[in-house]
Amino acid sequence: MSPTKGRWISPQKCLGVGKFFSLLIGLVITVLVVASYVLNGGRQDLGQPFSSSTARDFGHISNLSYTEIHIEVNQMIRSHLLPSNEIQLMPRRIPDRAELEQYEPHLFSMISGNFLRSSRSPCWYVKYQGNRSDDPYKINGYGLYSKRFRAIFEEMRQGFWDSLQLRGGDRIRLRCLPYFYIIGQPKCGTTDLYDRLRLHPMVRFSAFKEPHWWTRKRFGILRLKEPFYNPFPVEDYLDLFDLAAQEIQDHYNVEQGMKGGTVDDLLIGEASASTMWDNSAWSYFYDNVTNTEPPVLIQDFIHAFQPNAKFIIMLRDPVERLYSDYLYFAITNKSAEDFHDKVNESLQMFESCLQISSVRACAYNTTFSNIMPVRLQVGLYVMYLSDWFSLFHMNQFLILRLEDHSANITHSMRLVYDFLHLGHLSNKEETSITHNPASNSRRPDDRSLGPMLPQTRQILKDFYHPYNKGLARLLADIAYLWESELIH
Ligand SMILES: *[C@@H]1O[C@H](CO)[C@@H](O)[C@H](O)[C@H]1NC(C)=O
Ligand SMILES: *[C@@H]1O[C@H](CO)[C@@H](O)[C@H](O)[C@H]1NC(C)=O
Ligand SMILES: *[C@@H]1O[C@H](CO)[C@@H](O)[C@H](O)[C@H]1NC(C)=O
Ligand SMILES: *[C@@H]1O[C@H](CO)[C@@H](O)[C@H](O)[C@H]1NC(C)=O
Ligand SMILES: *[C@@H]1O[C@H](CO)[C@@H](O)[C@H](O)[C@H]1NC(C)=O
Ligand SMILES: *[C@@H]1O[C@H](CO)[C@@H](O)[C@H](O)[C@H]1NC(C)=O
Ligand SMILES: *[C@@H]1O[C@H](CO)[C@@H](O)[C@H](O)[C@H]1NC(C)=O
Repeated sequence: MSPTKGRWISPQKCLGVGKFFSLLIGLVITVLVVASYVLNGGRQDLGQPFSSSTARDFGHISNLSYTEIHIEVNQMIRSHLLPSNEIQLMPRRIPDRAELEQYEPHLFSMISGNFLRSSRSPCWYVKYQGNRSDDPYKINGYGLYSKRFRAIFEEMRQGFWDSLQLRGGDRIRLRCLPYFYIIGQPKCGTTDLYDRLRLHPMVRFSAFKEPHWWTRKRFGILRLKEPFYNPFPVEDYLDLFDLAAQEIQDHYNVEQGMKGGTVDDLLIGEASASTMWDNSAWSYFYDNVTNTEPPVLIQDFIHAFQPNAKFIIMLRDPVERLYSDYLYFAITNKSAEDFHDKVNESLQMFESCLQISSVRACAYNTTFSNIMPVRLQVGLYVMYLSDWFSLFHMNQFLILRLEDHSANITHSMRLVYDFLHLGHLSNKEETSITHNPASNSRRPDDRSLGPMLPQTRQILKDFYHPYNKGLARLLADIAYLWESELIH
């Protein structure tokens, strides 16, 4: 069932599918996905991966076979942990293009994949069918459901007609996708990064922050736990990059014939902190499944169009992340004690899910995520990352720890500029970006609540430890154990 058909599907419809066949199938085999760090040829500058902590260099990983599969007989099939207290992840099945096209025929018909070579942001021309008096944003879902966005579209509309190019009697319009995505995680400093990066003269973000198109709007999810609206077609998403596209078009015309390079190109970015992990819509739409894991993930679609896209991820001690998430999203009864109870309840639910399902099935299970009192699964970074690494090369990711970012913003921002191959900034520009006050979305009221209880911290540390261990191994950096951070 394709979400673009616009049919409203009851969330109840597919939820009975809970079959745990996959568990019973096959041998008593457990598979651990680890990074192998095989030295593979010489070091390449462009192959330099980026990590926020300086100690380790894993630039030598230049082959997707970094996922080395360890197979061993394990009596404890019901456990998700290896005897070494490390998390087990089964490799996922990668859908092919034909399968993806079946799910999203409209999306595939809209994005050609033949991008202009002169622009680093992926852009292409399409014929514009409307006339001068038409409002190109009239039925854009973002505008239909939000007055604030509607106002932004009203402004964008002003220059729209004049931005069209004439070619053989037709009016053509430049469409663009982002060159890079900030994909996660929530409460890990992505807003701060976004607020700084948008000040860079060569960076353009979507018309408004956090479009959440790939994970939510595409399915008609406006707000979590609410009924579905009409899905937003991909055109609605592309509209968000119109202003950037117009600038790129101007740039392109000027540059044509003058200078071949694309070094000084404008880069389009997008920041939605759900992209990395939120696959909760899958079960409502992709109901033809034979096991309990999603047959396709968000990144499969991004990869189909943009195999060379770049991704920036901010992470943070998952224990602190969860508390921050709770403070941000909880409405009533907020307190350290209430947090403790919710953590305790969620942990019990998650552990019992793991008794019968894989980590991936539990983490991506919509019903389950909706009923868990706190969003424990968002901190299982290694699992999500492994799923991204199953498609994209490791050096397409810049991973920053919020702890390092806060400690030295200048350093952190330079890593970002280098990663995006953005030109160097003048001292003045750099200073204005790094001296911008930190964006901190913790509400003043919440600060008075103080830290979480020591016992809550302990049970969460224990819960996340095997995952952090897997992450530290995957990224070859012990900073991801979050063991040296001061307790605050
Ligand atoms: C998701 O979780 C719910 C509630 O725990 C369970 O009933 C259902 O079978 C699970 N579904 C899948 C596909 O694992
Ligand atoms: C990656 O490694 C495998 C074997 O480990 C090899 O067959 C393959 O050609 C390599 N690919 C690249 C792009 O180097
Ligand atoms: C422009 O197109 C709309 C339909 O999209 C039509 O109703 C309108 O009459 C057209 N206006 C002109 C000036 O052609
Ligand atoms: C479900 O999947 C099977 C195997 O991939 C396929 O043969 C079948 O046509 C699919 N059914 C629907 C309704 O999409
Ligand atoms: C509010 O928090 C208290 C203290 O933890 C707890 O006993 C109570 O059940 C909570 N009430 C609700 C409605 O969650
Ligand atoms: C967690 O909750 C259970 C009841 O659901 C209770 O028996 C147990 O003592 C709680 N554990 C902690 C550490 O609070
Ligand atoms: C922060 O990073 C910059 C650039 O890497 C470096 O020059 C500076 O010494 C660092 N400052 C601190 C306090 O570590």
